[in-house]
Amino acid sequence: LRATLTIDPSFTVGDVDSRLYGSFVEHMGRCVYTGIYEPDHPSASPDGFRTDVADLARDLGVPLIRYPGGNFVSGYRWEDGIGPVSDRPTRLDLAWRSIETNRVGVDEFQRWAAGIGSETMMAVNLGTRGIEAARDLIEYCNLPGGTYWSDLRRKNGASEPYRIRTWCLGNEMDGPWQIGHKTAYEYGRLAAETAKAMRLVDPSIELVACGSSNSSMPTFGSWEATVLGETYDQVDYVSMHAYYEQRGDDRDSFLACSVDMDRFIDAVVATADHVRAVGRRKKRINISFDEWNVWYLKRFEGEANLPIREAPPLIEDVYSVTDAVVVGNMLISLLKHADRVKIGCQAQLVNVIAPIMTRPGGPAWKQTTYHPFALTSQYGRGTVLRVEPSSPTYETKWLGEVPLLDAVAVHTPDDGVSLFAVNRSQTSPMVLDVDLRGWPGYRVVSHVALADDDPDAVNTAEAPDRVVPRSLPTPAVDSGRTSVELPPLSWNLVRLG
Ligand code: AHR
Repeated sequence: LRATLTIDPSFTVGDVDSRLYGSFVEHMGRCVYTGIYEPDHPSASPDGFRTDVADLARDLGVPLIRYPGGNFVSGYRWEDGIGPVSDRPTRLDLAWRSIETNRVGVDEFQRWAAGIGSETMMAVNLGTRGIEAARDLIEYCNLPGGTYWSDLRRKNGASEPYRIRTWCLGNEMDGPWQIGHKTAYEYGRLAAETAKAMRLVDPSIELVACGSSNSSMPTFGSWEATVLGETYDQVDYVSMHAYYEQRGDDRDSFLACSVDMDRFIDAVVATADHVRAVGRRKKRINISFDEWNVWYLKRFEGEANLPIREAPPLIEDVYSVTDAVVVGNMLISLLKHADRVKIGCQAQLVNVIAPIMTRPGGPAWKQTTYHPFALTSQYGRGTVLRVEPSSPTYETKWLGEVPLLDAVAVHTPDDGVSLFAVNRSQTSPMVLDVDLRGWPGYRVVSHVALADDDPDAVNTAEAPDRVVPRSLPTPAVDSGRTSVELPPLSWNLVRLG
């Protein structure tokens, strides 16, 4: 196989917003309890958080974390999670039929996130609640003091406001599974009025309206058009969510799922721009892709009628090399759309379809998917460059004919160019001819690849480093051209400088 691409400083897409490398912590399964928080764990800090998990999360590079849900937020009373822990109620969470002890709430989470260098992206409950609970929460979080809620935060130990910048107006409100599910018009009106009240408390915030839960929803497209029709002037982003999995043995289609992600993004951008045109508006609505990942949802669907439990193990998918290549490719898709996709949250951070796994009382380790995320977050900062790849194609059952290569480059001033590339061929290496026009004197600094003789290999507590990125030989650059060999079924980072 042979493919070509060009890295030219003039082919810019846009600057990467660091929030593109966000993550997501939901009160779901073992993400919070026995995930980030486990007071009895040997590594626990005085406030009960696992420092081994915090270290892995910090190294993953997640400048933003969405919290506290997810479906959970649509039944959540945020006031249950503040004040003395012994006074906090134990509730039944209907989203996951779980016991919620409220030992972790807004203040604990905010301290934890700040400690690992992340800002919080807070979601408000527009399922069972509405304007009042949302304006109280933002007053609690963002007002310096002098009012009931801001003074209560100070009393609870935070003298400075949290100044949370990015807020989600509910979660997946188009989904019939959502507690308080609404029609597009009902949701659009509530979101617009909630946004108005929240901005009266803090005009500096940025707001995300709910888009569709996925592109297969029967209301997809019309949902975005109606919701943005009601909220356009009040919000900054519309959300997107997408989860992919391999169906049966159709790995070829699964490896191409970021083609679907590209099309999905293009469709939502077009819909937002349609509403802009109809309203003769100047402002553009951008995308918050605030849930994305590989999720073997078909397996979970078998777990209907969950028994009521506290911190049950839910959707703890174990990720393979193939899954990691797909995750790396999804990040390429987000980068290719960096002009319009400003926020991305891989769902979720720990245990629940997560790059980090833990055992209660035991170790924490990196899943295969941790690696492409960490490297993209580390090196994918700066200006995204279109690379105009030309590659052989292959036929998929799901998406028809798709390219075997996907790639994007990011120019980081003072630190060179990082090329991210995926070879979707399960059997053949690919020679990638790179035209480095416009980068005189550049050489190949390094090439790391995530690939394996066994595409189903996974990391476990016993073998946490079974799958790690490996360095490959660096080819010479001759007359502004080089040729890099991409292993079969691989995600690659080639650094040039
Ligand atoms: O991330 C798991 C769940 O997936 C979230 O709670 C929900 O928003 C989505 O359907």
